Amino acid sequence: MTNNNPIGVFDSGIGGTSIWSAIHELLPNEKTIYLADSKNAPYGQRTKEEIVALSKKNVDFLIASNCKLIVVACNTATTNAIRELREAYDIPFIGIEPAIKPAANNSKTQVIGILATQGTLNSELFNKTAEMFQNTTIIEQVGHGLVQLIEDGNLNSPEMTQLLETYLRPMIDANIDYLVLGCSHYPYLIPQIKKILPEHIQIIDSGEAVARQTQNVLREKAGLSDGEKSEPVFYVNSDPSVLNDILGNKYKVIEKDF
Ligand code: SIN
Repeated sequence: MTNNNPIGVFDSGIGGTSIWSAIHELLPNEKTIYLADSKNAPYGQRTKEEIVALSKKNVDFLIASNCKLIVVACNTATTNAIRELREAYDIPFIGIEPAIKPAANNSKTQVIGILATQGTLNSELFNKTAEMFQNTTIIEQVGHGLVQLIEDGNLNSPEMTQLLETYLRPMIDANIDYLVLGCSHYPYLIPQIKKILPEHIQIIDSGEAVARQTQNVLREKAGLSDGEKSEPVFYVNSDPSVLNDILGNKYKVIEKDF
């Protein structure tokens, strides 16, 4: 089965482009439409009801754009809303969950760290997953302020370094050997995080796993494209400059209220 309709990807803002990049690299012939709901970021401090409503608004836009599958490139939206989305719409959804499983299964110290938003760490989905690894100590840390700094274009600011030091130090002291990045914005912080963490601590993000899962679900359910390589389209509902910067000014970015 082939299907040349686009893959839709949405996030509370620009961070989900880390997931989009992995998908685009693995599936370069797929058309993609990316929605950055930056006007409503961060989602991490919102109620579950708000996150579900915002996610449905994004999905309505992507379905109206003929998307064949939707990737929820936001951990907070996945952990709080993916069940409701699957119930409400007849289209395949791929979510991103914090990669606790590979970290816990490979940890030698049996202590792992997870950096995520309040919304993700409070969610039922996250807590049920964490409960499956009773033999591993999971040090949870809310990344207060990190998403906002990224959305404001302050990726390399002294404030960012200071926050990361504060959040990561207790994990290092607790002897973690894996750090799970539980928010799609955080892969953009990997260069700074690496400067703080000792070399033996592995960092895990979900981009490649989500891309492979997208490929599998397209094969099985929605259909892969047989088209030529095509240019992605990005929509953002606030100032497009930070999104353009993070994409290296390489792609078409449309400012639009949605
Ligand atoms: C946020 O909007 O607070 C972060 C998005 C995420 O959890 O990936």
